[in-house]
Amino acid sequence: MSNRPFFLEKNARFVADCIDMHHSGLGVVKVDSMVVLVKDLLPQEKALIHIMRVEKKLAYAKVIERLVSSPYRIESICPVSMACGGCPLITLSDEGQSIMKQNIVKDQVRFHGLDVVVEPTLNSPQRFHTRNKVAVPIKHNPFQMGFYRLNSHEIVEFETCYVQTQTQNNILEVIRNYPHKEELVDVKHVVLKENHDQTQMIVGFVVSKLELVSKSSLIEVLSKLKNVVGVVAHLNVSDGNAIFKGKDIVLYGANKIVDELEDLKFKLSLQSFYQINPHQTLRLYQKALDLAKLSKDDVLVDLYCGVGTISLLAASRVKHVIGVEINPIAITNAKENQELNHVENASFFVGDASDVTNILKDLDMKADVLIVDPPRSGLSSSVIEQIKELGISRVVYVSCNPMTLCANLKELSSHYDFDTIYPVDMFPNTRHIEIVLVLEIK
Ligand SMILES: C[S@@+](CC[C@H](N)C(=O)[O-])C[C@H]1O[C@@H](n2cnc3c(N)ncnc32)[C@H](O)[C@@H]1O
Repeated sequence: MSNRPFFLEKNARFVADCIDMHHSGLGVVKVDSMVVLVKDLLPQEKALIHIMRVEKKLAYAKVIERLVSSPYRIESICPVSMACGGCPLITLSDEGQSIMKQNIVKDQVRFHGLDVVVEPTLNSPQRFHTRNKVAVPIKHNPFQMGFYRLNSHEIVEFETCYVQTQTQNNILEVIRNYPHKEELVDVKHVVLKENHDQTQMIVGFVVSKLELVSKSSLIEVLSKLKNVVGVVAHLNVSDGNAIFKGKDIVLYGANKIVDELEDLKFKLSLQSFYQINPHQTLRLYQKALDLAKLSKDDVLVDLYCGVGTISLLAASRVKHVIGVEINPIAITNAKENQELNHVENASFFVGDASDVTNILKDLDMKADVLIVDPPRSGLSSSVIEQIKELGISRVVYVSCNPMTLCANLKELSSHYDFDTIYPVDMFPNTRHIEIVLVLEIK
């Protein structure tokens, strides 16, 4: 027998209150044990809604008439934002986004039974044109380039994307207007990666086959644009959703741009991870380094170090820094960056984070401070066990996923104290939030 209320069926209409926002950006309405996800409905809003589809435990609806508006609702500046799934919070003011992101973290803290204060979100000073990297899906016959409609693989095309920089929008326009689309049939994504002052960009084509694109005269067209320093094909023959799962082949110029943070320079390749909002990167790192309270006698381990940004920014404050990262291309960049910035007291290793104990043993070093910045999956149980066994006095945790962060904190709480979480907004207009906190050994 279904628990569904009798009136909850396709085409039903009723007045509903939005109590939360789903991670997809849809408003959440509760009807007994059923959840109704409503397009363009914000928390605190009341509306007459129309049920579009009913599934076992979920239903989907649209707004017919908004009866009470959120005090944080604003007009979207993007004409395709209601179709495109890229910016679910675009109709929330800065203050509204800040509160929502703080609450997302608070919910996880509460769910995991942690006793910590969640500070107000450190907002991005700029809310549009913030990303230094984008990956834009492409479909063929007919050619379509844009982002996916929410919960689908249907492409929503755009002229200007407001999360991208104008230079990125200009490059996409060149590709969109290129007449010989038959040369691009093997391209699945265009990936653009640029430095913060937008003077250098790599244009990446993720392809299932190399032949046609490598001979395309689009490469010559792109090579003439003054900010394009490299055109790179990424050969990915897998069927899965991962964009990068293969190797890079340089078609023009170099697979490298140079960015600056403080007085340091960082070389980056198409595939290596780099924080995507240049307006917030240093503010995030500064917070992490302040919390680390580094001193000249410290050995610092930077686990999940990427191209060595945190390691190299910290190097002048410590005796030695050890960076560990699984992606060999990122470690090649990290070593180049070390040389470029004449840093002598850093060592970088390709490895899984769970190699940390062995790496320290081989170096005959003991870590005083650890910074971890894992991917969304968080720390593995092996890494958590090793952190506890190594007995490192201070651990700074940088996380892009409040759920895995809080689960990891729960496990670490037997050995570490922590009291304050700092959310930093690296991803305006989305529900994503970066978090940083310090753990002190008990
Ligand atoms: C969120 S990024 C942080 C990078 C760097 N701290 C920064 O701010 O640019 C996470 C990094 O962890 C790396 N990574 C993913 N899984 C890993 C693992 N099991 N062991 C070591 N590194 C890993 C990724 O390649 C990526 O560079």
